[in-house]
Amino acid sequence: MSEPVISHGGAPAPASRPLLAPLAPLRLPLFAAPMFLVSGPDLVVAACRAGIVGAFPTPNARPIEVLDDWMRRITEGLARARDEQGADTVGPWCANLVTHRSNERLPEDLQRVAKYQPPVVVTALGGPRPAIDVVHGYGGQVFADVINLTLAKKAVEAGADGLACICSGAGGHTGMLNPFAFVSAVREFFSGPVVVGGGISDGWGLAGALAAGADYVYMGTRFIATTESLARPEYKQMLVDCTVDDLIVSAGLTGTPASWLKPSLRANGLDPDHLPAAPERNYNSNTAIAAKKWMDVWAAGQGVGAVRAVWPVGRVVDEIEREFRAAQARFAAWRPSTAAARPVPEVAT
Ligand SMILES: Cc1cc2nc3c(=O)[nH]c(=O)nc-3n(C[C@H](O)[C@H](O)[C@H](O)COP(=O)(O)O)c2cc1C
Repeated sequence: MSEPVISHGGAPAPASRPLLAPLAPLRLPLFAAPMFLVSGPDLVVAACRAGIVGAFPTPNARPIEVLDDWMRRITEGLARARDEQGADTVGPWCANLVTHRSNERLPEDLQRVAKYQPPVVVTALGGPRPAIDVVHGYGGQVFADVINLTLAKKAVEAGADGLACICSGAGGHTGMLNPFAFVSAVREFFSGPVVVGGGISDGWGLAGALAAGADYVYMGTRFIATTESLARPEYKQMLVDCTVDDLIVSAGLTGTPASWLKPSLRANGLDPDHLPAAPERNYNSNTAIAAKKWMDVWAAGQGVGAVRAVWPVGRVVDEIEREFRAAQARFAAWRPSTAAARPVPEVAT
């Protein structure tokens, strides 16, 4: 029996929702978040082998034939992993679709999604609606990537099964909301699965996010400097060398606020203090305009300090699990001082 979940306020308490069941089996409630030009089949399979959710954005696979090849490799790689280490130790995989109207390749991506059936699809830069029928058709779940309450409500109304709430401190395109405030506000009207991301790079933050009401955490930055990622060695090393003070948020590169590593801007002749005005947004997977920018200028989130070396994904997940267990123990050990202890009054719902 799962413990009833205490309501955050106005919404009915989602008492009967079994925590984390939909995406089980999972060793940790964690996604290796999808990252443009960083996440490929090796990172996805390594993350799933490590017992978490492995995700990649479909625009990384260009042209469309490459997407077919990647999805086949992931499907075969996970079948092998299930044989070798036992099915209940392998996490599910996730495809991230760009549903912005400028993405002309979306219909072809959806065909490949229908063919290979990733258990989870996360839509980004547009609403979830275009993906819902296809993904529900094979029993998968659609999560919508959202950065504010208006978008979160719209996504739920459009039929999203879950929300990926992207908050301030995220690498790449970032949100502006504080994760605790955002999750609490979402829990006022939504009791389905919630992922939270943005500046969370270790097991301590993972535990904090779950305590605050999220079901899963998205970690992107933490997985860039892994052996299996597609990032260039210089990018991985820059993450090891940089701290949270080396970041700047600007819409000047892609038209959407994103968090960049200042040294990579300087290396490309850009002054972090005088970045250009936001250009028009274009997320067409059939063009390479965006790819050119992201190839040379590198993104990272506020959890960059947790990246201490370039490690295989499995080792990173081991470390996050150790931190997570330590955080759970720390939380369980907290007691009020005797004088301060008092009965907690019942709250009317
Ligand atoms: C280099 C980079 C590329 C990203 N590309 C994408 C993307 O293509 N699609 C997407 O939905 N999110 C993308 N993100 C955002 C991540 O999925 C995730 O929301 C974010 O990394 C979480 O914050 P964190 O980096 O602080 O962990 C990207 C993030 C980074 C760092």
